[in-house]
Amino acid sequence: MSSQDKLALVTGATGRQGGAVARHLLARGWKVRALTRKPEGPAAQALTGLGAEVVPGDLKDRASVERAVAGCRGVFAVQDTWEHGPESEIEQGRHLADAAQAAGVQHFVYSSVGGAERGTGIPHFESKWELEQYIAGLGLRTTVLRPVFFMENLLMPDNRQAIVGGTFALSVHPDTRLQMIATDDIGAFGAMAFDDPEEWIGRAVELAGDERTMAGYAQSLTQAVGRPVQFVESPTLEEMRGLNPDWATMCEWFIDHGYEADLPGLRQLHPPLKDFDAWLAGVTW
Ligand SMILES: NC(=O)c1ccc[n+]([C@@H]2O[C@H](COP(=O)([O-])OP(=O)(O)OC[C@H]3O[C@@H](n4cnc5c(N)ncnc54)[C@H](OP(=O)(O)O)[C@@H]3O)[C@@H](O)[C@H]2O)c1
Repeated sequence: MSSQDKLALVTGATGRQGGAVARHLLARGWKVRALTRKPEGPAAQALTGLGAEVVPGDLKDRASVERAVAGCRGVFAVQDTWEHGPESEIEQGRHLADAAQAAGVQHFVYSSVGGAERGTGIPHFESKWELEQYIAGLGLRTTVLRPVFFMENLLMPDNRQAIVGGTFALSVHPDTRLQMIATDDIGAFGAMAFDDPEEWIGRAVELAGDERTMAGYAQSLTQAVGRPVQFVESPTLEEMRGLNPDWATMCEWFIDHGYEADLPGLRQLHPPLKDFDAWLAGVTW
């Protein structure tokens, strides 16, 4: 592969997963084209500063996606359920996959979610499973990454504020075991896949960096924050069903089933894979 050929379109590059993929690809010598609705925004400007080509586009607008895909060897695909809902997520994913196939893209790396293939009944997991099947039906040369719960979820403003105040809350039990991943490691695996297509095309890999009980995570948070942090089952599942049924179904699935990434196998592939303490070491509370 000549360096000229190493051009990848990265969607979600101004966000967590796509941003990490873009940074890892640039570090590996790839050219990155970043699709965003906000090319003048600070995240897009930061990508330009790192050497990425920022292009305006909207995954809802098929023509803008076709323009962005033109000439790319690889495409990293992620859609945002929380902003758009599962139906629009599927439509946006189809636009990208269709455009990639029409443009002759050689490697399509799709970020789904851990457990998507296991009949979870969680709306925003089922939408990703539908997209996985749609992409497979197109015959694109594909790698599917299935990341678990992001460690970065703990940094969302409400969660961060609660943790600093001594409470780590989710609608699961203190002894529920939950796998988590640092989004930087999703980027590392994504870039690894683009760099070694023969090894990665045709694979679907659940990605995690740690697995502990919620009480176990709270113990590490106590050390990192420097004050007692307790895990609290809040809101209750019943309350959560009223607030956000999709999220509640996911929490119930965490309790009854849960993610199944092969942590030792992943660490063999990527030795710097961050466990929760390694991730916490990079966070300032
Ligand atoms: N949080 C978790 O624990 C977890 C675990 C597994 C999977 N997931 C899945 O991860 C996905 C979100 O990924 P993320 O957290 O990395 O994203 P994020 O940080 O929330 O950022 C969203 C990204 O999507 C882009 N985007 C949104 N709508 C767009 C559109 N119409 N056209 C083009 N770009 C658009 C945004 O770009 P601009 O705003 O710049 O246009 C931004 O880069 C969700 O589908 C979620 O279900 C989350």
